[in-house]
Amino acid sequence: MSEGKVKEYSNDEITVIWKPDLCIHSGECVNGSPDVFKPKERPWIQIEKSASKQIMQTIDKCPSGALSYVVQDEGLKEPKTSKNENSIKIETMKGGPFIVQNEGVRLLDKEGNLCETKGKSIALCRCGASANKPFCDGSHTSVDFDG
Ligand code: SF4
Ligand code: FES
Repeated sequence: MSEGKVKEYSNDEITVIWKPDLCIHSGECVNGSPDVFKPKERPWIQIEKSASKQIMQTIDKCPSGALSYVVQDEGLKEPKTSKNENSIKIETMKGGPFIVQNEGVRLLDKEGNLCETKGKSIALCRCGASANKPFCDGSHTSVDFDG
């Protein structure tokens, strides 16, 4: 139950964290910031091609937590709020995972160990085929999950 490989890309303001094993190929990154997220190029994340705020807004839409960021620049940090601390929001993706909004949520395995999650949402496998449970690894596509 690991989040596997991790790569980081930094500018002076933010560090983008990329965990390929969590990607469910939903495409929000490429659609939101096509200048930055270029799957056919290497490196595929070109952080210098856009403003940090725009990159952050795009990453906030990543449903799986494959993309997340850490903010170094105080001016870009969101003010902390206490709203919704005791509630979780879950969305069921047709033919795919549960998407759990990750703000204030701690995910534990059955032994009570904390599963590290950094993105604003987590994709949890619903089809049973993920090699990285409880996280979705995109395998629902290859097994034609119809749930
Ligand atoms: S899961 Fe995240 S990283 Fe993967 S394609 Fe979707 S938005 Fe991009
Ligand atoms: S729901 Fe995506 S791998 Fe199972």
